[in-house]
Amino acid sequence: MSKTIISGNSRSLKGEIIPPGDKSISHRAIMIGSLAEGQTNVTGFLNGEDTLSTVNAFRNLGIEINIDGTNIKIEGKGLYGLSKPKTIIDAGNSGTTIRLLTGILSAQDFNSEITGDKYLRTRPMARIIDPLAKMGADITSENSNKLLPLKIRGRNLKAIKYTPPIPSAQVKSCLLLAGLFADGTTEITEKIKTRDHTERMLRYFGVKLDIDSNKISVKKQSQFYGKNLNIPSDISSAAFFIVGALINKGSEVLIKNIGLNPERTGILELLEKMGANIEIKNEKIECGEPVGDLVVKYSKLKGIEIKGDQIPKSIDELPIITVAACFAEGQTIIKDARELRVKETDRIKAMTTELNKLKADITETEDGMIINGIKSLKGDKCSSWGDHRIAMSIAIAATRAEGDTEINDSDCVNISFPEFFKYLKKLRS
Ligand code: S3P
Repeated sequence: MSKTIISGNSRSLKGEIIPPGDKSISHRAIMIGSLAEGQTNVTGFLNGEDTLSTVNAFRNLGIEINIDGTNIKIEGKGLYGLSKPKTIIDAGNSGTTIRLLTGILSAQDFNSEITGDKYLRTRPMARIIDPLAKMGADITSENSNKLLPLKIRGRNLKAIKYTPPIPSAQVKSCLLLAGLFADGTTEITEKIKTRDHTERMLRYFGVKLDIDSNKISVKKQSQFYGKNLNIPSDISSAAFFIVGALINKGSEVLIKNIGLNPERTGILELLEKMGANIEIKNEKIECGEPVGDLVVKYSKLKGIEIKGDQIPKSIDELPIITVAACFAEGQTIIKDARELRVKETDRIKAMTTELNKLKADITETEDGMIINGIKSLKGDKCSSWGDHRIAMSIAIAATRAEGDTEINDSDCVNISFPEFFKYLKKLRS
């Protein structure tokens, strides 16, 4: 099993980085580019294991996709151009691949089967199967447990009006993509807004969506056309270095070309509330998404309460925010974050267990954590739980530990950020 050792004894992070492309947007670029007519050229693509699962799925569905580093070319065949997959589709570790793709596959004129790795096979799929069934989809899973693998018999779908019970961009996007094929107008209302990359990208590709506050409507489409698309860097990957700079004395880091979608910037708002010195520069709109540079300096942080509608906006960053909270003065309370238990792993349990091995002071609650700030951690042996964001969060925590920290199963960073350890080394040298 892979293993990485991080030497602690706080050193400043200094320099300039451009993190890899946004994972959520990269998945959608493959999917929407494949459904468009003609060529889509993408720059800034995340060449990581998760997004390659989406590439392989669409190649299996008959789409030609050429990858040259972070540039990709997709030969879209139009909304009705996918062909029956030659083999079972393997979504690997990727929740976004399985949930969005199932929406598309439900509406095809062929049958398909889709599965994933041992982590994805434990994650809940009822949240997509149930509303898709209301649209007329025919999806079954073994043992009727609504877990992977799924057998999908393609059908004519009909539009529904639906309010997902749990805020989820994956569920919303699954239904909007199914809605492109469904008779009538599909209407999704969100209780709390989630990332709107699907909506922004569909509009960028020329699909007409009606958006009225938290309600998004889409009609059945016949065609739309390929485009050139530049993907910004992933704020969820930048997050590790933002916190790394904030907690190590003397740090100053410039993080460039970061996607600043308002439903993704919860981490910046929360850290600013904690007292972080983060400056946003060079803001612009690129292919329908806000983008900017971040200057982050070491800051004295204080504990805060994190709950309610702050959770969906920072859902993937809560593990690294937990690390920031370890070095904040006073207590940080995270509530309403039960969803963390059904991510790539149970992130509440994983963060509590691993950071407490390093002598943090964290108590697990049913829907979050209570974190008491401390002066420093103590290096030890940790596990990533096979979860990329846990591995990277532990690595950043380890920069403020006394002595070395060993992270087992560290290769899982390849899921979203293959060069993470190289970037960390560069900023610490
Ligand atoms: C994602 C949505 C979120 C997020 C995931 C990516 C997306 O999941 O945690 O990493 O790209 O739509 P949920 O929809 O389950 O909240």
